[in-house]
This record gives sequence, C-alpha cells and structure tokens, in this order.
Amino acid sequence: MDLLPSVRCFTRLIEYKDKIKKVILAYGSKSPQDCIYKPFFSYLNSIDNFEAHRTVDEATDDWDESVGVATVLLDKIKVDIPNAVAVICGPPVMMKYGTFKLLDMGFPEKDIYLSMEKNMSCGLGKCGHCMMGEYFVCKDGPVFTYDGIKDQPDIW
Ligand code: FES
Repeated sequence: MDLLPSVRCFTRLIEYKDKIKKVILAYGSKSPQDCIYKPFFSYLNSIDNFEAHRTVDEATDDWDESVGVATVLLDKIKVDIPNAVAVICGPPVMMKYGTFKLLDMGFPEKDIYLSMEKNMSCGLGKCGHCMMGEYFVCKDGPVFTYDGIKDQPDIW
C-alpha cells in the first residue's frame, strides 16, 4: 500500500518509538468525512508513547471527539515543553494561530518548526513563486523554525 507522505513520516517515527519519549498529533479537518487519516488514528493511539487527537469544524451526529479549530486541541494536551519541539503544517491561517498558541504555551521560537510550502510551484529555485523574504522556500526549506523566519515579510 502506498502511504501518504505524512503517514510515512509517522511510520518512520514508529520505527524509532523506543528512542522517542512521546509523539502527539493534533489534527483538524473541516468535517469527519474530510479526515484523511481515519484508519490511522486508532492505530496511533494503540502505541504506548503516541497520542493522536482530532477535531472538526463541523461535527456530525455521530462525532464524539473535539469540535473547533485545530488549536483547541492544544488546550487538551500535556507537553513537556522544555524537552519538546512542535511541528506545524497546514493552511497558513492555522499555522499562524497555531504558532501564536504555542508561543503562549511557552514554546521557544526556535522549537517551533513550520512547513512553509504553500507557494511552491516549480520546486527548483527557478520561478520565484515561493520567495519568502530572503529565502527560496523550495531550496532553503520548506521547513523553517519560527525564529528563523518570523521577521520575513508575509510569512502567513
Ligand atoms: S518554487 Fe519555484 S523558485 Fe521555489
């Protein structure tokens, strides 16, 4: 079975689970039908040092998990912040408010990793669509720490 890249990322983390203290996934989608990892959540929650939480913007009658934007999940999780990093990917507005929420929680700017490929087009450093201030997201990233890009224009 060909897994989605982000699922491959988790399967890779699972390979290293004995070296990782804890992995927490906070995932939001518009509706339960839009959740692209449905079968994967119960599996992740069955692994000792993994936690997976979901929320939806619009719940259905049979939905018994969180309702609201993805950042609501950050109020429900316990994180050992001095020994943690946060990784955010998704729509820019979610990344923006997710970053602000993590900063409010006490995460240092250097420990917040942002996947910034929203404007990538050629992926080769030729078209310039991905320019974020001084950086080519496709060549210099696409993952940056918040402290590394917070002063660049229009990061969200
Ligand atoms: S995506 Fe074209 S230059 Fe980066």
